[in-house]
Amino acid sequence: MRVVIVSDYDSASKKAASIIAKEIRSKPNAILGLATGSTPLGTYKELIRMHKKENLDFSRVRTFNLDEYYGLAPNHPQSYHRFMEENLFSKVNIKAANVHIPDGLTKDVGAFCRRYEEKIRRSGGIDIQLLGIGRDGHLGFNEPGSSLGSRTRLKTLTEETVRDNARFFSKTEDVPRLAITMGVGTILDARKLILIATGEAKAEAVRASIEGSVTAQVTASALQLHPSVICVLDEAASQLLTKRDYYKYVEKIAESVESEARI
Ligand code: PGA
Repeated sequence: MRVVIVSDYDSASKKAASIIAKEIRSKPNAILGLATGSTPLGTYKELIRMHKKENLDFSRVRTFNLDEYYGLAPNHPQSYHRFMEENLFSKVNIKAANVHIPDGLTKDVGAFCRRYEEKIRRSGGIDIQLLGIGRDGHLGFNEPGSSLGSRTRLKTLTEETVRDNARFFSKTEDVPRLAITMGVGTILDARKLILIATGEAKAEAVRASIEGSVTAQVTASALQLHPSVICVLDEAASQLLTKRDYYKYVEKIAESVESEARI
């Protein structure tokens, strides 16, 4: 696991965007796994800038999003469909047919989730999955207790997650209690993972995920089982890591021996 500590949110966003851009340039039909929330906004902004100014081409890129609120229509202002449209898809040259986001209105959730998994598999699998982390250590909406082998399915959100996400809705009561999310097992199948975490509020979840035991109670700790993970943290999110100085030292040394095997 690579732990890259940068000064602030902007630097973390630029770092994550540069990794994704590198993937797209080396594989123009890359399959990206995408995330929503406040964290990836800066990354998407930077990718849009690269598209406009540096010819980053999304015309053959395909995407699969981690999750969607259950019960929200794609055009609902707080749906993750709308979030992705407004913050990335409408601003780059991606084809609508290449975009996949769980359908919050599906009538047969089980069948929909099996098809979503099947589509990911048939596309060749996700090359690089972008991830945020919840204060409870969740990846996607894999709340504490989610099996580390779980696949795409319906999950009940914790009260903490509902409260955290209430800032996007006019009232807490409007926040959906259920979501369709890729499972931890689905996420671990991606070839590369990038986790971005910034701000002091994420410090404990980051510590538990990177330096704690692997446990279903902190689903992001499953990252420790994956062979190709990069965690991009700002100073505030990294403050509780006991091996912080070592991670910084590793990156310093790595600059001089950059190899293709590293992402
Ligand atoms: P945030 O959410 O980026 O809005 O902090 C992250 C998450 O819950 O995964």
